Amino acid sequence: MKDGHMRDIRYLRLSVTDLCNYRCQYCMAPEGVEKRPHNDILSVEECVEIGGAAVSCGIRKIRLTGGEPLVRRGIVDICRGLSALSGLEELCLTTNGSLLPQLAGPLRRAGVDRLNLSLDTLRPRRFQEITRLGFLDQALEGIRAAEEAGFPRLKLNVVLMGGINDDEIPDFIELTRTHPWEVRFIELMPMGPCAGWDSSRFLSADEVLRRFGGLIPLKDSGVARRFQVPGWAGTVGLIEPMSHRFCGTCDRIRVTADGRLKACLHSRQELELRGLHGKALLEAIRRGIASKPGCHHLTEDGSETPRCMNEIGG
Ligand code: GTP
Ligand code: 5AD
Ligand code: SF4
Repeated sequence: MKDGHMRDIRYLRLSVTDLCNYRCQYCMAPEGVEKRPHNDILSVEECVEIGGAAVSCGIRKIRLTGGEPLVRRGIVDICRGLSALSGLEELCLTTNGSLLPQLAGPLRRAGVDRLNLSLDTLRPRRFQEITRLGFLDQALEGIRAAEEAGFPRLKLNVVLMGGINDDEIPDFIELTRTHPWEVRFIELMPMGPCAGWDSSRFLSADEVLRRFGGLIPLKDSGVARRFQVPGWAGTVGLIEPMSHRFCGTCDRIRVTADGRLKACLHSRQELELRGLHGKALLEAIRRGIASKPGCHHLTEDGSETPRCMNEIGG
């Protein structure tokens, strides 16, 4: 279905939990988030019902997000339910990878087509500093498990942070020499804990091109500008939310873990979906799509939404 700006909306990002087993410095406070009562969060059945209604409204791709989607009880059942929806072309998931050693196989068998993994550093001590609770070995083991389970076209998301991991730009790009992965550098968005960080932490993704010569542009895909070192196995992506570069072609809506439709990541506007069924649910989703803003409200001073990333799912 088309929104009010003639964009074809075909991609739903569904957050299945706001909880996470990491506490990345830019995303969460050290104490994490307060655990909500079970019925504040969409049930397995509600996730599948909302996914089904979204497909009836023209959605063709669903990506499960979090928090960390793999800490959600019933995640494999949610995947099985969604992948069985006729009309859905792609079921994807964005994860920190730590639980993939146990879950990659079951997720693949439950019909997940593609995985994106968050990995902000390749150095063990730095990994612990950034994530507070994570271990690099586990994350790397997760990538291996994803490959063994047969997930194609893995993407690694690296949030760029000046003075924290920008010295690793060449190391990350080096991974694409032999691995058929897309390494994507993401501009840090001032939301939640990082909203008050010093401006030196916020780097333009152009920095990647300045620091690494030899990247040749490829065709853009989704939110990413893409590049490659000729002859290398993988590709490099730049995701530049701070420059608003991709709003004009944005094709996505979001549903938060507590069941509210957000037509734009950064808008304050939300539409309650819980308690709606059948025609009423379809109408609410159509209304949400029709009212999607033309451009997101994100500046150096922050986002219009008071929500944190772990509730919206990025
Ligand atoms: P593909 O399906 O592989 O294209 O994945 P994706 O880029 O849509 O999903 P992923 O979860 O890997 O998101 C990567 C980064 O892009 C995250 O930091 C998201 O927060 C950010 N992102 C995704 N969609 C949007 C958007 O509509 N607006 C903004 N500002 N950022 C977004
Ligand atoms: N800015 C940019 N990306 C972020 N992510 C989480 N918080 C932020 C932020 N403030 C990323 C995660 C993950 C993706 C879903 O969103 O690292 O890769
Ligand atoms: Fe968890 Fe992702 Fe937030 Fe890190 S960025 S705390 S992995 S939800």
